[in-house]
Parts: sequence; C-alpha cells; structure tokens
Amino acid sequence: MSDLTNGNSKGLIMDHSDTVWDELIFFVNGKKISEKHADPEMTLLTYLRRKLGLTGTKLGCSEGGCGACTVMVSKYHPHLGRVVHHSVNACLAPLCSLHHCAVTTVEGIGSVAGKLHPVQERIAKAHGSQCGFCTPGIVMSMYALLRNKPTPRMTDIEEAFQGNLCRCTGYRPILEGYKSFTKEGGCCGGKSKENGCCMTNGSGTNGALTNGHTEDHGNSTLSTSLFDPDDFMPVDPTQEIIFPPELMSLGKLQVSGRQLRFRGERVLWVQPASLQELLDLKAQYPNAKLVVGNTEVGIEMKFKNLLYPVILAPAYITQLNSVQHTEEGIVFGACCSLTQLGEVLREEVGQAPPHQTEIFQAVLEQLRWFAGLQIRNVAGGNIVTASPISDLNPVFMAAGCKLTLMSRGGKREVRMDDTFFPGYRKTALSPEEILLSVEIPYTRKGQYFSAFKQSPRREDDISIVTSGMSVTFVDGTTVVKDLQLSYGGMAATTVLAKNTTSKLVGRQWGEELLQDACSSLAEEMTLHPSAPGGMVTYRRTLTLSLFYKFYLTVHQKLAADGMCEGVRPDYASATEIYHHATPASVQVYQEVPPGQKEDDVVGRPMMHLSALKQTTGEAVYCDDIPLYENELYLALVTSTKAHARILAVDVSVAERMPGVVSLFAKDIPGSNQTGPAVYDETVLAEDKVTCVGHIIGAVVADTQAHAQRAAKAVKITYEDLQPVIVTIQDAIASKSFYEPVRTIQRGDLDQAFIEADHVLEGEMHMGGQEHFYLETNCTVAVPKGEDGEMEMFVSTQAATKTQSLVAKALGVPSSRVVVRVKRMGGGFGGKESRSTLLSTVVAVAAQKLKRPVRCMLDRDEDMLVTGGRHPFFGRYKVGYMKTGKVVALDVTYYNNVGNSRDLSLSIVERALFHMENSYNIANVRGTGYMCKTHLPSNTAFRGFGGPQGMMITESWMDDVAMSLGLPSEQVRRLNLYTQGDSTPYNQVLEHPTLESCWEECLQRAQYGQRRAAIQDYNSHHRWTKRGLAIIPTKFGISFTALFLNQAGALMHVYTDGSVLLTHGGTEMGQGLHTKMVQVASRALGIPQLSKIHISETSTNTVPNTSPTAASASSDLNGAAVHNACDILNKRLEPYKTKNPTGCWEDWVRAAYFDRVSLSANGFYKTPDLGYDFVTNSGRAFNYFCYGVSCSEVEIDCLTGSHKNLHTTIVMDVGTSLNPALDIGQVEGGFMQGVGLYTLEELRYSPQGYLFTRGPGMYKIPAFGDIPTELNVSLLRDAPNDKAIFSSKAVGEPPLFLAASVFYAIKDAISAARAESGLSGPFRLDSPATPDRIRIACEDRFTKLCPPAQPGTFIPWAVQV
Ligand SMILES: Cc1cc2nc3c(=O)[nH]c(=O)nc-3n(C[C@H](O)[C@H](O)[C@H](O)COP(=O)(O)OP(=O)(O)OC[C@H]3O[C@@H](n4cnc5c(N)ncnc54)[C@H](O)[C@@H]3O)c2cc1C
Ligand code: FES
Ligand code: FES
Repeated sequence: MSDLTNGNSKGLIMDHSDTVWDELIFFVNGKKISEKHADPEMTLLTYLRRKLGLTGTKLGCSEGGCGACTVMVSKYHPHLGRVVHHSVNACLAPLCSLHHCAVTTVEGIGSVAGKLHPVQERIAKAHGSQCGFCTPGIVMSMYALLRNKPTPRMTDIEEAFQGNLCRCTGYRPILEGYKSFTKEGGCCGGKSKENGCCMTNGSGTNGALTNGHTEDHGNSTLSTSLFDPDDFMPVDPTQEIIFPPELMSLGKLQVSGRQLRFRGERVLWVQPASLQELLDLKAQYPNAKLVVGNTEVGIEMKFKNLLYPVILAPAYITQLNSVQHTEEGIVFGACCSLTQLGEVLREEVGQAPPHQTEIFQAVLEQLRWFAGLQIRNVAGGNIVTASPISDLNPVFMAAGCKLTLMSRGGKREVRMDDTFFPGYRKTALSPEEILLSVEIPYTRKGQYFSAFKQSPRREDDISIVTSGMSVTFVDGTTVVKDLQLSYGGMAATTVLAKNTTSKLVGRQWGEELLQDACSSLAEEMTLHPSAPGGMVTYRRTLTLSLFYKFYLTVHQKLAADGMCEGVRPDYASATEIYHHATPASVQVYQEVPPGQKEDDVVGRPMMHLSALKQTTGEAVYCDDIPLYENELYLALVTSTKAHARILAVDVSVAERMPGVVSLFAKDIPGSNQTGPAVYDETVLAEDKVTCVGHIIGAVVADTQAHAQRAAKAVKITYEDLQPVIVTIQDAIASKSFYEPVRTIQRGDLDQAFIEADHVLEGEMHMGGQEHFYLETNCTVAVPKGEDGEMEMFVSTQAATKTQSLVAKALGVPSSRVVVRVKRMGGGFGGKESRSTLLSTVVAVAAQKLKRPVRCMLDRDEDMLVTGGRHPFFGRYKVGYMKTGKVVALDVTYYNNVGNSRDLSLSIVERALFHMENSYNIANVRGTGYMCKTHLPSNTAFRGFGGPQGMMITESWMDDVAMSLGLPSEQVRRLNLYTQGDSTPYNQVLEHPTLESCWEECLQRAQYGQRRAAIQDYNSHHRWTKRGLAIIPTKFGISFTALFLNQAGALMHVYTDGSVLLTHGGTEMGQGLHTKMVQVASRALGIPQLSKIHISETSTNTVPNTSPTAASASSDLNGAAVHNACDILNKRLEPYKTKNPTGCWEDWVRAAYFDRVSLSANGFYKTPDLGYDFVTNSGRAFNYFCYGVSCSEVEIDCLTGSHKNLHTTIVMDVGTSLNPALDIGQVEGGFMQGVGLYTLEELRYSPQGYLFTRGPGMYKIPAFGDIPTELNVSLLRDAPNDKAIFSSKAVGEPPLFLAASVFYAIKDAISAARAESGLSGPFRLDSPATPDRIRIACEDRFTKLCPPAQPGTFIPWAVQV
C-alpha cells in the first residue's frame, strides 16, 4: 500500500492497516457495477471510456466547459423524496461520488443497430450533427431535460444547452430539430390550418419567404424545408431506462448511511455518514478537502497539479442539504446545488411580495449566467473557494448574508462582509471548520437590490467584473440610509467600496450623488495597470457604468413609488435587463429541377451519412479505438520558456514514478528535421526552445494518468535568451521577418494618389483564433513488427503529409507507414499540418518501444502547442473620389507567423489575393510580411489568410464612407466588381454573382426599412444603440500551391454489387464523404446509397493525397470519384447493353465472370491553373465563390456587450450538391467568423505565455450567440461550369460574412460616439470584444478612468 505522506496534507494519519476498502455500487445504462478498486482520482468519464468501453461520451476539455462529456446522473433524493435526473459533466464527476447513483450515457438511450431515441434521431435528421463530436453531449443534455420536463419550452432548451459547445453547426439546426419537442413546436411545413402556422400568418422572419414554403421562379422552385418533421418518431416513454428499483429502495431506506472509504494510489476518499463524522474527520485531517461538485477541486488537481491526499465527500449529509425558511430569509445547507438554490428562490419570488425578494431576484439573475446547467446541477456554491471573480459572493456580501460555520468545537455565525475574505483565496474559516449553511435575507420596504455580471460571453463565462448593490432609504424619503456596493474582479478578493458608500449615506438619490459616487469609485476602485486579467481601463470604467445602471434602476423604482420624477425615457435603456429572444430562422435553397429522377440524390438535402451513428456514440473517433493489449500512453514534455537554451533535462524523479516505461528527448531514429512546406523545425527541440509549448520530449507510461504525472515531474533547466519577440509590433521594430516578402502590384499608384480627391491612412490589428475543434489532436501508432512497418490511426486532414513526416522521423521509406483516418471531430485547418507534431513523436515512441502508443492531447496542451489562425496587422493608404469610388490602395500586411514557417507563406499570399475583397480598384499595391516571433507556429485556419486580408479591406472601406459622411452600403455598392472586371493579380472574373447576391440580400434583409428603424431606435435610446452593415465576399478556389490541385479515388465493386469507395479527402464533419457517395451514386446510376460505402481515408489506398483543405476537396475528389465511375461504367457498358432490363448486380456479376476488373483508380487535376508573382500573370484560382451578408446588432454602450439581432446571408454555392450540408457549412462558417470577429481572444503574456488554454478562458460562440433572426439563402440559378455537377466550394468562403456583425457593431459605436460629439473614422481592432466596444463608446464615465501611459508599465497581456 502506498504511503500517503507525500503531498500537502499535514497531520494525516497513515493507514498501513488491513482496512477493507468499500465497494462502489452504481448503475450504468441499467446495469449494476460493483467496483472494488474505485480510484478517488478517476473521473466518471475515464471509467466509462477506459473501463467500460463506453466511448460514446467524449472528452473535449476536462474542465466542464464544453459539454462533450455530458451524461445523466439519477439518484433518489431523500430530502425531496423523489428521483432527480441531472445532466452532469462526466469529466469532472469523481467516480467515487457515484455510489448508489444511476448513470445514463448516450449508448444507453438508443442505437442505430437497435432503436434510436427521438433525441438522437431528430438532431441527426435536422442536420444538427456535422463532425458529431459534440453530439452525444448535446443529446444527453436534451435527454436529461426531457426526463425532467417532457414538454419543455424553447427557453428550457436554451438553458439546458448553456454548457454545451459545438464548433461546426452554428447551433441553429440543433435548436430547429429539438424545437419539435417543445410547447412552441417546430415548423409544421404548412400542414397546420390554424393561425399558428408561420406560413400563413406572416410570422416568418424573412422578408420574402417563411418556413416550409416553396416559391416558383420560372424554371426554378425555392424551398425552405431541409427536413420533414413528419419523419420523426414520436417520443415513447416506455423506451426510457427506469431508475433501478434496487437503488430506489436503498435510497428510501437510507441504506447508504454509513461511512464509505475508497483508496487509490495517492488519495483517500471518505464519505462520512453524518455531520458529526464529518466534523470529526475534519478535525482529524484539517487539510482535507471537502468535495461537493468537484468543479473547483477537480480543476485544481487536473490543471494546477495540486494533490489533496484526503478528500471528504459531505454531499449526502442531511443538515448540509436542508432548506429552511425563517423570518429573516432562507437558509440553505452548504451542499445545496446551485440548481436547487435557483429552484427554491424562484418559487419564493413567485409567492412573496416583490419588495421582499429583491435579493432573491438578483441571485436568480446571477444564476442565469452562472456556468452551464451541468455545473449548476452539481456545484455547491462558490463561497469557500473565495474566488475573486465569484458571481455570488458580491451579492452575498452586499446582502450581508449570514454564514454558519461549524467545527467539532461548535457553531458560530458570521456575516459575509469584507473581513470574511482576508486574502486571495482565503476565508475566515479555521482549518477544522466547515461551512454549514448560508442565510439569504429578505429585503425590506425601502431597500433596493441589483446584481450585475459582465463577462466576454454572456453564457457560461467567468466574470470580468461582477457586482452586488444594495441601497436602503430613510423611510418615506430618497435619503440614503444604507448603501453597500460590492465588486468582484477588482482585487484579489471580493471587495466593498466602503469609502464611496460612507460618503453617500445621508445624501439624496440624485444627479449630485451620482457624480460624487462616480468620482469616488474611480478613485477607490483602482487597479494597477499590470493587474492580472488585464483590461484595466475597462474594468475600472465598469465599476462606474454598473453603478450608473443601479442608480437609474433605483431611480425608476423610486419614481414608480412616486418618490421622485421619472428617468428620461431615452436613459431608461441603461436599466434594461438582458433577455435573450428565442432565435428564428429561414433557409432557402433551390429545389432540384423538375425533370430530375426521383432516385437521383444529387442536389437534395440529404442527411450526413454518419449523423445517426454520431448521435448514438457508435461513430468511432481516433481515441475511441479500443485499447491494444500492450498499449502505452504518451505525454509531451513542453517548454515553459519562449526563447531559451536548454541546459539540462532532469528525469530522475519522473523515471521513478509509477507506470513509467520510457522517457526520451532529442533522440530521433530518423531525421529530427520536420515541417510541412520547408523543414525548418524539429520533431523534438535540440538545444534551444523558441516558444512556450515547444516539444522537448515525451514520457511513455502504462496509463494516461501516469504518463501525464511523470511528464509534469520532468525538470528542465533553461538559460534565458534574448530577444523574446512576441508581438507583430516587436517583430516590425526588430525587423524579424521570414523571407520572402510578397508583393502584388497593378496600375500607377503614385499617379492615382495624386488624382484622387482624398487620401486617408489607417491601421488595424486583427487577432488570431484557436481552432477549438471539439476533438483534440490524437494519434495511435501501432508498430507492425517487421520491415519497419507502422500503422497510424490519426485525427488529421493530411494523411499523406503525416505519412511522409513520420517516415522521415523514423528513418524508413514512406511505403512502410500507413496512415488511416476514419473521421475527425473537427479540423478547420488545425489538423492540416500541426497534427504531425504529435504524430511523429508518438510514432517514434512506438518504434522505440515496439508497442502501440497512443496520445490524445488535453485541451490545454492542444491550445498551447498547435498554434492557430495568424494574427494580422494592416497598414493602409487609400485614394478615393468624392463619390466614394476608391482609385488607389497601398496596403501592407504583417502576420504573426511564430517560430516556424509552416504554411505561412501561402497564408500571407492568400491575404494578398483577397486584399481588395469584392471591389474593383484600378491601382493597387499589396505587400505581405511574415513576422518571425517566439510563439508556437501559426497555421491554416478556415479561410487561410483570406478573412484577415478582407477584414482590413472593410476597415478602409468603412473609413472612406465615414470620412465622406456617405452611407457605407452606398460606397461598397459603388466599388463592387462586375462582369469582366479583373483582380489586382490580373484574373478576369467570369460570371461574378456579387450583384445578384447583393440585391437579394438587401431585399431579404429589408435593408431600407431596417436602416430607418435603427435610426428611430437610436434617437430614443441613449445607452443602447443599434447598428447595421452589409458586407460582400469573394473567395478564390484552388490551392495556391499548384501541385496540390490534384486528387485520386479508388473504387472497388464487389460481386454482390456493393461498392467500396476511397478518395483522397478526409471527413471532418463537413460531409465530404456524403457528397462523394452522392456523386458516385449519380455517376454509377446506383440509387441505393447503402450500396456505396466509404470506410476511411488511408495512404495505402489512395496515395499522395493533398490535405483536405482550401475548400476544394469536393471539387477535386468529386472529379476523381467521377473519373473512377466513368472507367467502371465503360467496363460495365457491354453488360448493360447486353442485358438492358437487368440490374446493377446482374451487370457486375456478368463482368466478373467475364474476368473484367471491377476496381478502378480515378484521378483529377484542375486544368489551366498557375500564377506567377514575378510577372503578375496566370490564373491563381479556378473560380470564385461569392456571398453577401447583412447584420444588425445592438450594443450596450455602458458595458460593451452586444446582441446579434439579425443576419441575412445570400451565398453562391453554384448548383448545390446537397443544400443541407451546404447551408450547414454556411451557418457553421458564419458562426466561427462571429467568434473570430467578436468574441475569441487569445491572450499572451509579454513573455509569450498563453493564458487562454481552455473553454474557461477562451470563448467560442455558444448557443446564445446566434442571431435572433438568421436567414440563409443559396443563390438560385448560378451553375458553375468549373466543378463537379456545376457546384461550388463552400467550406471557407462564408466565414468572412461574419464581418457584417463586426461592422454593424462599429456602426452602432458610431451612433454612440455621436452622442458625445464624435464623428469620422475611428480605429476598432478585431475582435470587437466588450472591452473594445465600451472603450470606443467614449462618455463621461470613460473620461473618469483614463488609461495608464503606455510604456510606464508592463501589461498583463499583449496584442500579439
Ligand atoms: C465550467 C465552469 C464554469 C464556471 N462558471 C462560473 C461562473 O459563471 N461564476 C462563478 O462564480 N463561478 C463559476 N465557476 C466556479 C464554480 O462556481 C465553482 O467551481 C463551484 O461553485 C464550486 O462548487 P463545487 O461544489 O463544485 O466545489 P468543490 O470543487 O467540490 O469544492 C470547492 C471548494 O470549497 C470547499 N468546500 C465545499 N463545501 C464546503 C463546506 N461546506 N465547508 C467548507 N469548505 C467547503 C472545498 O473544500 C473546496 O476547496 C465555474 C466553474 C466551472 C468548472
Ligand atoms: S469534456 Fe467535460 S465539459 Fe468538456
Ligand atoms: S458537430 Fe458539433 S462540434 Fe462538430
């Protein structure tokens, strides 16, 4: 038995006795599990996946932030006297906490092989599953909701999904599919004859079309039905797993009421049976951790490497779960979950007079935005964690809540005030004490209370600043008797603004008090300019802005009670509480032409072929491959320094740790040189590291936990090297660039600037982006034991590149390495080249040890190591005429490349190829620099430089319009390309559809009326403003590296007529395999899709493939598949002629017996391509995709938050191969762009350390971020003769359309600035975060909090 003295539990009594450890009894999917060796450090997720082989539940983050691991936990609740079902994050739930619980996973509710559950079927049929990695979690959140509320409302669904993320779909189709379960119901497709039908009562949101509608346009018919709700199976409650009767009787008899002990390698878990036992144990082990929801402790152990050798689990103790109503308020036991807290308060708010429940309402408002439901279902509150950004502590403090603390010595009551938190993460509890209960008081007449939370994303996000505010007036007056202002996020603890409040007691609630309060708060709530968390000016401003909101809210209430005059109507906008409106949407596409055969599937909205499997957990991802018997796990050892020499790698501690098999650094059997385009990096660092996260070595052990623990124990000694270049500005200053510098130039720029009516100059910075594919990078390498053969299962977009770089590192020919890709849980460019970093190291380990080795990166490692979208900085000079016509552009791009070149040259080239976006400019010069910095190498990301290039275009376009005082849509329209125009790189545009997209977008968005309504709104609202923007895009399709524009396919037809198809592309959710099956189905004339199967992508079937990237995979592989079909058709032709009434199987059999090969290789290369930078000639692209988007937003000028109110997109996808998949790409791309331009911010320290390493700190769009109205229309009658079946590419082009949201925000900020007398162009960098929006809306409050002089301090984070 291991000694428990290591770790930080002083006073722990050793247990070397023969104690018999308890057996953990629980149920999974109706089956009883008795676990004799329950490990307190093991999560439910690991147990499900590794011990039970239930791999349907996914690992996305390990920190409760993505919901991929959601399961339902049911237990008999003795205090409520019933069974409760809760969605729970399996990644945080300790296995040991599940005694006498029933766990339901996605496998437990239905299967493709058996019977699907309606929650599985509907998300699939509504096209709500693309890569499918998030899907099981979403399915289980929905399932748990339905178990609690069989007919929920849409708001319940939105609440249930607050803790679930999806990176692919854009969320709309998920909500659409699940709407069918709600009271509101889904679209009936026009079948309902009652008034409720959205088709007949005009409640559809689109100007021209409504749901379920078709519309004739000459030869074409437009449809808005992507699925038929009539196909859905009804809900069948008898299908549900029942709560195990055994647990029910145990629960009722409270048989679990005895102490339980579980012991692992390092940790002892004790579940005391009574309060007294708990207090005794706490006295015995004063440093023991109490674990309730484990949402804090779990994260500390996983990410902060903390070890708590003794854990006490008090969750079942009656006194800690009780709820008591008293004269003063409601007393909650300390283990009540936040969900329970909310339920009780909601009930009380519904019953008690409103003046008594002001605090309760404020707590409920905080809870609305507190984490996701899965966390609230288990978390016992965050008082004792003493988090300085806790959302509830400021409320409890301003409310003066009473806390009861208890130890073996007795009870004491303390008030929650500023003495309760004596320091960072410290409380007034003594080591032996526990928190017994919290009393939340009623408010009294004359007392008003509000709570505020400001965070980057509204849903499931930690606060930037959070606050509780309470004022009590002298009876019958507006004179302040008592005022409490409590803030989180402004110091190392929750604080009270005592100086300010002391000055305000005795004063009248009026303008003078407001002014003094603000001046005083500005002085009292200061922050050092280097304060952790950054955003110092914003945070300081928020303390004032939030107080102003409180001031006006109270003012309004006083006015309602007749105590004072009312608030100015336009100022009332400051007091509105955010209410999310349920989104509505319409998707319009052209139906297949009337003559098309019923069984020809091309052009129809077919479901993704793996969708059903993805909803049931049967779809196999890389880490779902069952463990090999002798398999090992690898963990990376990475650099903590951005630029340093490695002096020593000390493995002495690590190598002695349990389970460790091997540790290695430097030692590569083949070549250490690697890189996707040029070999300018190493598999493992040699003597120097050049970024934080640089891979230095690896530890291989028997389990993941052992490998990761040992990796953390490897000690590296460094010698710091200078310089450390982190930002683009640093690189410009030190001329740290990679070669070459690219330029594209056309026309006479000097002359054009002379002739222009006006010239303006400007700058813009655009931040990078993390891919945040839900499935992190994963590789399983299996040495085959002979001839250096290695089989690799990899989550990669680039099978061939992985094969060749692995072969290079192993020192074997490529022919010995087979790379196999079944599917990815998202890629977005992030698995195009950087995935090889992991694959090569894993392969090296497998070869050395001659055993299979696996590694799936943890989310924080993945974010740290693999780079992301390049940040860009643009400097521009624009010449233009009075009309707004742009005649000259000189733009320079700088992108932050990082520590190796990777694909950066092609990325900066693509930015240059898109520098004019959709505008015809006669005289242009674009220059692109690649900045060499000490960051992890940045890489491909959907759009590949295009979204950065075009973003800067739209910045100067906006500046031109603003400087002329012209409507921006007028200036954009004036400059739009038309037929016959040519690009700066001299490519003539054939059939540009920009104008059609533009006109349709204006009409569908009802642009004119919308603009007028916004003007009216803005004139009546001082503190909220609305803005509008319409933005076009043009995106070139082809790899700019000519040789990559090729593809292969391999088709085998078996004698039973079944077809096995392989092609060069990989499936990452985009539906490529589905489209390829559609192509093959039409080309071979086989209507039954089930006959055509794609199993995987592999280097031993189709060699030398290009990465699945550049949006071109359907074009390239589609043509190659078609080519293979042509070859087979030709071979089968004689048999068809001979037997015209026969069927496919007959012809295949006849050909086989006639000894005809039924296997064919298809090949395709894009003709007529090749651009030359020197001569600025040749075709860079095969064709262009076009689209236009119009968005409306509303900003809160005081907090900088914004709401996406409306978006209309019109996208040209040619003749769609599959409108459902294409609309999925448009919406998913758009939402990823919304993240890029408004939300997602990578934050680096000046020393190159990445702070944002998981969903806790890095916010991708969530369900609540989709526009309230979202209309997507695929342009009709726009065939494209350059790609398969007249289609067009769709993966990347729509992403940029989200810039319409950014520029709508900028439009709204302009309206706010106008209130302060400001006009004309202003700089707004991307993303438009609340911080940037607030600071740009200059007003009296921002003036009171001026920023510190740059250069006088070292900021916490820098703009890289
Ligand atoms: C994804 C995610 C999102 C989050 N979002 C938010 C948010 O929006 N706003 C916010 O404020 N917070 C947020 N948090 C933090 C969260 O509130 C805390 O993790 C949670 O409240 C802790 O509760 P728990 O029961 O899970 O704590 P545990 O991890 O079980 O324990 C927390 C700590 O409290 C101690 N403790 C628990 N009960 C007692 C007791 N009775 N007496 C003495 N000590 C005790 C434990 O020893 C431990 O130190 C988030 C956390 C996660 C993981
Ligand atoms: S894996 Fe559990 S929430 Fe992300
Ligand atoms: S389908 Fe949701 S993450 Fe891919």
